[in-house]
Amino acid sequence: MQLLDGKFASEKIKTEIAAEAADFLAQSGRKPHLVAILVGNDGGSETYVASKMKNCEKVGFKSSLFRYDNSVTEAELLAKIEEINKDADVDGLIVQLPLPKHIDPEKVTETIDYRKDVDGFHPVNLGRMMRNLPCFIPATPYGILLMLKAYNIDTTGKHCVVVGRSNIVGSPMSILMARNANPGNCTVTLTHSKTHNLKEIILQGDIVVAAIGRKNFVTADMVKTGAIIIDVGINRETSTETKSGFKLYGDVDFDNVAPKSSWITPVPGGVGLMTIVGLLKNTLASAKGEIY
Ligand code: GUN
Repeated sequence: MQLLDGKFASEKIKTEIAAEAADFLAQSGRKPHLVAILVGNDGGSETYVASKMKNCEKVGFKSSLFRYDNSVTEAELLAKIEEINKDADVDGLIVQLPLPKHIDPEKVTETIDYRKDVDGFHPVNLGRMMRNLPCFIPATPYGILLMLKAYNIDTTGKHCVVVGRSNIVGSPMSILMARNANPGNCTVTLTHSKTHNLKEIILQGDIVVAAIGRKNFVTADMVKTGAIIIDVGINRETSTETKSGFKLYGDVDFDNVAPKSSWITPVPGGVGLMTIVGLLKNTLASAKGEIY
């Protein structure tokens, strides 16, 4: 078993991003600029957004955060998005999900200018991704591709089983792994909560991407010996063992699955760190006008 170390891969790529951001500043007189909107005070969202902002500073980007109470109206939020869309100093705009129930996430996603949609959630970016055209790839799937690349893992011809069909991870991941690209060129099976014989299907995976949001869901009896295991789960539980008061669990039972695998991502220290790298790369590409 070998570890797909998110710390190692993310630090290496962030060094490259920082060098490119410095070049961009020297040439343009400005820094790549990411804006985040955070509504409410969900603990997970607070942590993720704080980490995104901190990482922007680390690589020499400008970052701005707009915070709203849960009581913000949909109209107010959409008006702010329109304002940021028009701001020429902003390269990327993300609205952290989930949103309160009275706000339609589809409306929010479609209001963001697709040329600043560094989360890659807008239908234009998703459509262009399907067609293998330049686009912003959703940050977590992008981070997974960067991880596979960092470790020179050839995915061509392999059977990739994706567990979970979310808009943010499972669904785009299935498209990316099937594309004519490397990483990619896989035979893909996209499974979900209504899949029959899930265990038998996961057992066929040369690559398993676990993105269902259930602690230790993928167990050793479900994976083939030698499989590559990508754990996207970030399941937070309160704990007295850690300083933060929380402990993170993946979707994979790491201790028992790791000995059977050829490569595996840990949680924490795996995919989560790569998600941020995907977001930073999209923001830099936007600033440099590489996509649109
Ligand atoms: N919530 C969970 N993951 C994400 C993400 O990648 N982007 C945004 N905007 N919200 C999220």
